[in-house]
Amino acid sequence: MNFFLDSADIREIRDLADSGLISGVTTNPSLITKSGQEIKKVIAEICSIVEGPISAEVTATTYPEMMQEAAVLTQISEQVTIKVPLTFDGLKACKTLSDQGTMVNVTLCFSATQALLAARAGAAFISPFLGRLDDISMDGLQLIRDIRLIYDNYPEIETAILAASVRHPYHVLEVAKIGADVVTLPGKTFRQLYNHPLTDQGLEAFLKDWKTTGQTIL
Ligand code: G3P
Repeated sequence: MNFFLDSADIREIRDLADSGLISGVTTNPSLITKSGQEIKKVIAEICSIVEGPISAEVTATTYPEMMQEAAVLTQISEQVTIKVPLTFDGLKACKTLSDQGTMVNVTLCFSATQALLAARAGAAFISPFLGRLDDISMDGLQLIRDIRLIYDNYPEIETAILAASVRHPYHVLEVAKIGADVVTLPGKTFRQLYNHPLTDQGLEAFLKDWKTTGQTIL
């Protein structure tokens, strides 16, 4: 499973991408707004930091305008993946852009049948939103299970399942067990994956013992 960052915070992206473990970045209009930067500038900067697909979302709601916005966003870099909402016009834009060879991430997916349509439209990624389903007492993980099952029934489907709206490490563990292709994480959740109090305590004890030897490795 690949790890993407779900962020438009340049400092955070730079910091975490330094690990070499980040394979892409997803943004959305809310994250761009939070960054306080102009969309084209922030997407270009992210492309210069992280190798791999960088999702930039259209804000138009009609097919012709989505296509116009996609034309502007794809100019930024070959890495740009156009993110479209899972609406009729979004699916139409996905089909046209995918046929033209542009990678598309279909977002705001809340049902497996929506995911099936996105695959039919040639999406490179489908983004089911786990956390937002959990927020309304529905089972976000079941949606990922259903999509995995359906996609695996049709080997010709090449759409990658990109688990989104991930809120905590348990979501990451479970989507990995289900077989999501990618998980996109806020910086906080990525850090939670490696931080563990027993690791910190163990390291402290090792270093304390080591100090008593007076040895150095270098
Ligand atoms: O980028 C899409 C998705 O990951 C948003 O997550 O936490 O706003 O539901 P969230």
